Amino acid sequence: MIPRLGVNIDHVATIRNARGSQYPDPVRAAHMAVAAGADGITAHLREDRRHISDDDIARLRQEIKLPLNLEMAATEEMLAIALDAKPHAACIVPEKREERTTEGGLDAAGLHNHLAMYVQMLSDNGSRVSLFVEATKRQMEAAKSLGAPVVELHTGAYADHFFAGEFERAEQVLEQIHEAAIFGTSLGLEIHAGHGLTFETVGPIAAIPQIAELNIGHFLISEAIFCGLDASVKRMKSLITEARIGAAA
Ligand code: PXP
Repeated sequence: MIPRLGVNIDHVATIRNARGSQYPDPVRAAHMAVAAGADGITAHLREDRRHISDDDIARLRQEIKLPLNLEMAATEEMLAIALDAKPHAACIVPEKREERTTEGGLDAAGLHNHLAMYVQMLSDNGSRVSLFVEATKRQMEAAKSLGAPVVELHTGAYADHFFAGEFERAEQVLEQIHEAAIFGTSLGLEIHAGHGLTFETVGPIAAIPQIAELNIGHFLISEAIFCGLDASVKRMKSLITEARIGAAA
């Protein structure tokens, strides 16, 4: 099985919002990503609306036929929006106003009582819930006990170590991700991964046989500046495919 690629289009909206203009339109980017072979579209509606807007979510729901994965904080406001939008998937992420990006995983274990209602209500509403967590047994067990069918493993530390030239450390984190993927699968969880992945770093993650989906955004949109979104998405898809086929051979 080749991992699905969810293309995160948040940073098309970041560029739009930098000038308060109508362009570039993230929904147009979503259409292009679909045409280039994306398996789904991912968007994070942040509390401060720094990139994706409520209207973008409504238009994505209307226009994009592939699964929409809505990344959201566990707040009452986001819950109401998600219940109304009924996305195919809802990925619960930690969110701090002052952070530049989603810096760490959700503490599914520590926040168990708070998260339980969100997992239940979103699931009952027909969205497949995933929890964006660090790759530890404790978080896998917490996701399982919350009844979330999916975990998305945070790959940010792996990518950061790689780009800092700390290859041994990157290898260690990769191993942790692999072990968590094996353990999570043994609990019956579906395993996704994402954050900070690039053409250079995606291969070893895509090669992990338990990983069913990768969500990638910032690099794909950045690369699109130089080679176009179509080429950027197509290359990422082919690197994912090559890595998984190579690992199985
Ligand atoms: N997965 C989750 C849960 C995220 O929050 C993000 C960032 O929005 C990503 C994947 C994609 O990360 P990146 O934009 O670094 O590829």
